[in-house]
Amino acid sequence: MTMNSAVAEPRGTTREPVLSLKGVSKGFGAVRALTDINLDIYPGEVVAIVGDNGAGKSTLVKILAGVHPQDSGTISFDGVEVSIQTPTASRALGIATVFQDLALCDNLDVVSNLFLGREITRGPSLDEEEMEQRAWSLLRQLSAKIPSVRIAVASLSGGQRQTVAIARSLIGEPSVVILDEPTAALGVAQTAEVLNLVERLRERGLGVLLISHNMADVQAVADRVVVLRLGRNNGDFHVADVSYEEIISAITGATDNVVTRRASAHASAAPASPPESASAPSAAAHAAVAPSEGRLTEPLPDNSTGIDEEID
Ligand SMILES: Nc1ncnc2c1ncn2[C@@H]1O[C@H](COP(=O)(O)OP(=O)(O)OP(=O)(O)O)[C@@H](O)[C@H]1O
Ligand SMILES: [Mg+2]
Repeated sequence: MTMNSAVAEPRGTTREPVLSLKGVSKGFGAVRALTDINLDIYPGEVVAIVGDNGAGKSTLVKILAGVHPQDSGTISFDGVEVSIQTPTASRALGIATVFQDLALCDNLDVVSNLFLGREITRGPSLDEEEMEQRAWSLLRQLSAKIPSVRIAVASLSGGQRQTVAIARSLIGEPSVVILDEPTAALGVAQTAEVLNLVERLRERGLGVLLISHNMADVQAVADRVVVLRLGRNNGDFHVADVSYEEIISAITGATDNVVTRRASAHASAAPASPPESASAPSAAAHAAVAPSEGRLTEPLPDNSTGIDEEID
């Protein structure tokens, strides 16, 4: 299956993708976790990967992070075909992955966490002053709200911890940052902070791959949304052009199911002229746009309709 004609390309740019996957497949025994995945990420672009449980999102992240090699297909970085066999190889290429568990050391302070394994030394000892200055400089560039770089990470809020994990990923000066569910455990204000941080990454010209279950986050911060369904590409949309219902349809493989019906019911109960913003379109605006079959990729085989029955 090919979906090249359906792949949305970033607007107003002729740049090459920093990361490009073509026909990537991965199985675990009899389970086909990913089949023939195509994905491009451009510099200065936030691409959200969405999909239901088991759609293959984490498998995709792990392939890019060097945890699992793909079975087939190619990955190109800056136009050059690469093999990502280990996490070290992934980092060396310039791919930084922030996993959902963050992997911070709670008992260490912010500076120590940022430079863990990459400590700056002067002679035989650690150059604490230099590391502290660089830590502040990095956090300032990210407009991060961290009260002190000398407090243990254990005493930071969830959003601040996420900030430290993202800042740490930037120490190696990556070109691509992968964030796995960065707001899943956060409250409203902390989510906003982390989404601001994602925008800072884009401003720095990084390609950002954002794995998320939260459509509000996706619509607020992503430039494109790539849908995986049952391990296959099932849509590639410019966020500005796509409605909540269209994304849900692509995720579930159906235009009529319990999720879209709830969204429609919510929309018809909404006031006639609700306030709208570019970054968070209202439910009524979503409902006004009929799901567009044109931008979805070709339908999946008949045996892939089980999800609709399950959620109905
Ligand atoms: N190490 C593994 N061994 C065997 N099967 C696996 C392994 N990792 C993933 N899978 C299978 O591959 C498929 C895709 O899983 P994956 O974790 O990538 O989905 P996901 O989109 O991240 O789902 P979720 O939203 O639940 O995290 C699932 O059927 C899963 O059971
Ligand atoms: Mg997962």
